[in-house]
Amino acid sequence: MNLPFKSLVFVLAFLFTSTVFAGEGMWLPQLLKALNEGDMQTMGMKLTAEDIYSVNKGSLKDAIVHFNRGCTSEIISAKGLLLTNHHCGYSQIQSHSTLEKNYLKDGFWAKDRSGELANPGLTATLIARIDDVTKAVLKGVTDDMSPKERQAAIDINLEAVKSHTNVEAHQEVMIRPFYKGNQYFLFVTVTYTDVRLVGTPPESIGKFGSDTDNWVWPRHTGDFSIFRIYANKDNMPADYAEDNVPYTPKHFLPISLDGIEEGDFSMVFGFPGRTDQYLPSFAVEQIVDVLNPARIEVRDHALKIVGAAMRADEATRLQYASKFARIANYWKKWIGEKQGLETTDGVGRKKRFEAEYLAKAKEFEKNKRYKENMAPSTYLDQFEKLYKERESYALARDYHNEITGRNIEVMQVAGYHQRLIDMYKESGEPAYTSFKGRLNGFLQGFYKNYQPSVDQKVFADLIQMYVEKMPFDEMASVMKNQMGAIGAKDYNDFAAKLYEKSLLTSQDMLMVTYGEEPDKAVAKLADDPIIKLNTALNKAYGEQVTPKLSELQDQINELQRKYMKAIIELFPDRSFYPDANGTMRVSYGKINGYQPRDAVSYLPVTYLSGVVEKYVPDDYEFDVPAKLLELYEKKDYGDYADNGKMPVCFIGSNHTTGGNSGSPAIDAHGNLIGLNFDRVWEGTMSDINYDKSICRNIMVDARYILFIIDKFAGADHLIKEMKLVHPKK
Ligand code: ARG
Ligand code: GLU
Repeated sequence: MNLPFKSLVFVLAFLFTSTVFAGEGMWLPQLLKALNEGDMQTMGMKLTAEDIYSVNKGSLKDAIVHFNRGCTSEIISAKGLLLTNHHCGYSQIQSHSTLEKNYLKDGFWAKDRSGELANPGLTATLIARIDDVTKAVLKGVTDDMSPKERQAAIDINLEAVKSHTNVEAHQEVMIRPFYKGNQYFLFVTVTYTDVRLVGTPPESIGKFGSDTDNWVWPRHTGDFSIFRIYANKDNMPADYAEDNVPYTPKHFLPISLDGIEEGDFSMVFGFPGRTDQYLPSFAVEQIVDVLNPARIEVRDHALKIVGAAMRADEATRLQYASKFARIANYWKKWIGEKQGLETTDGVGRKKRFEAEYLAKAKEFEKNKRYKENMAPSTYLDQFEKLYKERESYALARDYHNEITGRNIEVMQVAGYHQRLIDMYKESGEPAYTSFKGRLNGFLQGFYKNYQPSVDQKVFADLIQMYVEKMPFDEMASVMKNQMGAIGAKDYNDFAAKLYEKSLLTSQDMLMVTYGEEPDKAVAKLADDPIIKLNTALNKAYGEQVTPKLSELQDQINELQRKYMKAIIELFPDRSFYPDANGTMRVSYGKINGYQPRDAVSYLPVTYLSGVVEKYVPDDYEFDVPAKLLELYEKKDYGDYADNGKMPVCFIGSNHTTGGNSGSPAIDAHGNLIGLNFDRVWEGTMSDINYDKSICRNIMVDARYILFIIDKFAGADHLIKEMKLVHPKK
């Protein structure tokens, strides 16, 4: 195991193209030339790697923008017009909406630039260049360092590399580990902070199908919204100012009017957030059998209670719609992930790979001597032991976080107030007052959408689960003690008493307390039964779970790094891409249907007729705007139809994950053909185990976007700004 890591990655380049799985992988744009260019061209791409990523000339990467550091977006005009998903721009759209001007419900289109709406805090980040800094970051780092020593040495190097990197005043530097810490890349970024809302369709288009259709194919959602980046007169980042001007990009994406066909090459360019492709089988088994079921169970309970309350009362439905969607999104994803791992035998596949790995490792180790635990053939046993030991801690973490950190709403508020109390005690009145002010802002939004009676039911239900399922007695005891102290007969009674007594369940009462002298207010808060309970639970968790969990996690991370290195070295004829980590990546595949189950075959494209098939008048998920129905009746599709039909969404074998929302789908020539926004249900396990037979990403067809902007919204001035092309003609 002595070849330096970097040279190995390089050797791979010439060997593996034949064994690449079409579709799998989230590749580094700066390594496409070495690793993927040939493969991509074989699949139909007409571009070079230099057209996609170049530091010398404008390339596709200059049109790809990290949207608010969570989603992806892309520039589609010479005047900084920015396309992303409706669900990525959702909170901005919501923040501009009132009952009179309800942009969520009715959509919004700025008539001209002066009508575009500012969004304080919203960021748009471009990547200027990416450098390999592995050598400098790992300087002086040796194999016999402990994980702590290793990290300390790396931290010093990271600072040194950052401070020695030459950047211009408006640029920032960020360094991230890849391949589990075997390689480090430095990103020079430029972040724009004046990003204005230009237009959005109504929710009945942008969120059509809502939670029922979420993660599902066939899909009919026009999940897009449009923003614009503004810059100062020198085209540089500047906070909002009236005389800022539209940003002039180095490159923007032309939009293809020729559409797609099954088998066409496609690529998705964006900022995928997180994947775990190199977990050992024990970890995957644990996710499938233990951790996902626990998280699903908690959310199942919460969603049932909240869902029932929403169905019973329209005001509740409005208050809880967005929260419900957020909880339901990953609940649904985890269910899909578990099923997908089971149907594709994800664990079995890992085990077969591990058997191969072990054989190769043993062969490699013949006649070599290793220090304890350093031989690659021992890694899997070490993993098994560590993951077994970690299981109850990870389970406790998931129950604790899901129950107290997420699904019982008032517990989050309790946590913030404990911070407020601590702040007063530690830093005095000014700190207290300033934090209280911030908290107050948050609380205005919180209480607007909060019903204590709903939360109380969730509390009673989940607290019981907490006591019964928590693998450590200490936290359950905390709960039981507090139940005893308050004289509660059962969980319902406990909930009723706490919600009755606590200040946090009534905005009015809390605000009265906020108005009192700090001393008095803090004393009242410190005596609040829900704050006391939450603090006691967090304390027990912090003592019982956190230290051991993070110790085990450090060991697992270190082992994972060595395992990754060994995999790459032992399988020189295979390609390995680094796990997603929120950095810029390219995925590529083909437009392709799939067979979700026996005798069922999905076509890759949906049409407007499918929207009409799903139409349920006045339904909160499947209503359709009258104007859209009218356009459909008249077949008034302009230049955007495909043989007389209006395409809506399509799927392909591009490997994507959360964070890829809003990523452009790009054709063989570098034109925009669609906008990524989701994955199919059967393939959500692609974060852990990509399977080319059923993993598909879902995109809105660019022609549907143009049609909505032009024909539905009448915003043809935006179309005029774009560059529409016919690459196939
Ligand atoms: N499933 C997509 C993603 O993970 C879309 C989520 C937004 N839509 C929704 N109905 N919750 O983010
Ligand atoms: N909807 C996801 C997002 O917001 C993308 C879908 C996925 O996870 O693949 O990033």
